[in-house]
Amino acid sequence: MPWQPLRLWRSRDCFVCGESEKTLLTALSKKASGKIMSSNSFPLSNASYSSDAASTAKVVSDGAVLRSQVCEAQALGRRVGFVPTMGALHEGHASLVRAAVAECDDVIVSIFVNPTQFAPGEDFQRYPRPIDADIRLLNSLGVRWIFVPGVLELYRTGESTRVEVHGPSARWEGAMRAGHFSGVATVVLKLFMVAPANVAYFGAKDFQQTVIVRQMVADLFLPIRIVVHPTVREADGVAMSSRNVYLSPQQRVQARAFHESLCCAERLWRDGASPDLIAQTMCETLSRSQVVVDYAVVVDPETLELLETNCHVPRAVALVAGRLGQTRLIDNRELLTNDQK
Ligand code: PAJ
Repeated sequence: MPWQPLRLWRSRDCFVCGESEKTLLTALSKKASGKIMSSNSFPLSNASYSSDAASTAKVVSDGAVLRSQVCEAQALGRRVGFVPTMGALHEGHASLVRAAVAECDDVIVSIFVNPTQFAPGEDFQRYPRPIDADIRLLNSLGVRWIFVPGVLELYRTGESTRVEVHGPSARWEGAMRAGHFSGVATVVLKLFMVAPANVAYFGAKDFQQTVIVRQMVADLFLPIRIVVHPTVREADGVAMSSRNVYLSPQQRVQARAFHESLCCAERLWRDGASPDLIAQTMCETLSRSQVVVDYAVVVDPETLELLETNCHVPRAVALVAGRLGQTRLIDNRELLTNDQK
């Protein structure tokens, strides 16, 4: 059957999280049954794109179709890899896809801007959605399926289940962004159920996200292997991010301070400096570039708890987050001593 472009719309005055999330989902289900049509509306999902963008990979928006094709491939003994994304793909995403294509027989990439992981007032509505360019890139990388569900495909009318990963969700990004990790864990679990791949690829760029996904997979005995790949950076060290497009040219230069603060953290760590001193130095480096710091910390990579000392600690990670104008950026670096390098 030829691919049918799907466009979902939402009315301007709905919000996407907490109580108001229900309003959005209700509005969407009404729209889906043809009851709401706003002339001031805008696309809610990435699911509309021109047909010439989809040439080699199969673009699927129906979860049941994808699931049966994935299971069919697995029944033939094929190993399936999965890269979940929110689109606006860049070289960081591409590195995960390349790894998946190299290691698996078939690869699924999902493109879904997940409403439940955005808090009210965050950038859900303006999150970039260059779907045609994304599909072209994925075609060039040799993926088999591009999963582009509409919101109602993953959040069906009347759904009321959320996944909470306690512990590592509570701090850092979790403390700054109410409900964020519940939204991430929920959508990742839904995606894993729809596309029951053998292995899923995540980027170290979102370090706390990887801890939460691993914890969920272990706690729920999910039969999927999680692989984490290193952060891909621009030539000047700035971590690639779909949100970098929000930065003005001046802010883009200031954003270098994130990587600089992390490099500095590693030098200090090797010299035996305390986590407190490292945190303070990272803060100063960021503040000098007018970054409004949300946190700059040295933590245990498993529990994400603050480290008190660098003595006898096998592994540590520096996490930084802050804002340049309206744009929030995060970055991190594993702190290695000379003998761990
Ligand atoms: P998104 O931000 O699109 O990222 C998709 C994947 O790409 C994540 O695993 C992320 O860590 C990885 N990634 C992003 N920038 C990277 C970089 N510079 N280097 C390496 N990997 C990078 O993360 C999400 O989407 C969502 O939370 C998602 C997991 C899809 C759930 O909605």
